[in-house]
Amino acid sequence: MNFKTVAVLTSGGDAPGMNAAVRSIVRLAITKGIRVLGVRRGYSGLINKDIFEMSIRTVSEIIERGGTILYTTRSPEFHTDKGVQKAIKNCRELNIDAVIVLGGEGSINGTKKLIENNINCICIPCTIDNDVACSENSIGFDTAVNTAMSMIDKIRDTAQAHDRCSVVEVMGKKCGNIALQTGIAVGATAILIPEYSFDFNRDIVEKIDFTQKMGKKHFIIIVAEGLKITSQITAKITEKTGIESRATILGYVQRGGSPTAADRVLASKMGCYAVELIENNIYNKVIAIKNNKIININISEALNYKSHFDIDTYKKALEISI
Ligand code: F6P
Repeated sequence: MNFKTVAVLTSGGDAPGMNAAVRSIVRLAITKGIRVLGVRRGYSGLINKDIFEMSIRTVSEIIERGGTILYTTRSPEFHTDKGVQKAIKNCRELNIDAVIVLGGEGSINGTKKLIENNINCICIPCTIDNDVACSENSIGFDTAVNTAMSMIDKIRDTAQAHDRCSVVEVMGKKCGNIALQTGIAVGATAILIPEYSFDFNRDIVEKIDFTQKMGKKHFIIIVAEGLKITSQITAKITEKTGIESRATILGYVQRGGSPTAADRVLASKMGCYAVELIENNIYNKVIAIKNNKIININISEALNYKSHFDIDTYKKALEISI
């Protein structure tokens, strides 16, 4: 028997699949004799000691739910020394052997402060943006892309009926991964992303003109939110092409909803892997996907990785969007 105590928290923007990951952590850990404490509202809960004992049944009927039963925040207090010290004190008082942090790059960065104070951590990349540089995939991304795709399929119906151009803004902070995958999935005429500069005349006006001459009558342009150009570009398209254009900002719909099968499976696997690392006294790692396999990377190294945006796929997507 392994008499350890782990705490689990969800932090930053919620991501569909967080619940499935919490479920697998709780179920496998308890089966292995490890005690699991749930921390509410991310690092804030660690500071305020909003912490409760989890059981096999605490995580029943959550695998299919979006959001997070543990709630989440972007904790401003955790950016202060006082906040960090309170969190450390609580971890020590509760004899926590490791904290499992489910979140994006910002949340992973937060673990540095715990590790510096000898609190062990394991991170699981959970963000719809898929911008955790060390991992090819993050929990929530597949669901967000599928949600964006099905919303845009509906937008396409009305764009087609009116011979319009629909400009659709998708989430992703400074990362174009949601834009790229969604753009391919909906056959967008143009995909505008922060990672690759574009020329308005060449990549939009001339592209629309070229495809129009080949019989295309309605157009979908995907814009990554990080560019902050959606309304400006929509007006400019109407002005330069004469095609009525409308903007849609998809927004938070992309963060909600039931996780796809792919996200539930990824979350379940990563959750189990986190518990196995802790069981083997392996700490301070980010769980990541490389070549479709689950691996672990030292947190300090993981934070130095550069973005894994797939420029080749981006270029191919533009070649076939005619
Ligand atoms: O990181 C996920 C994300 O949804 C980003 O795509 C978006 O920029 C951001 O969170 C929005 O954050 P908030 O919930 O703080 O408005």
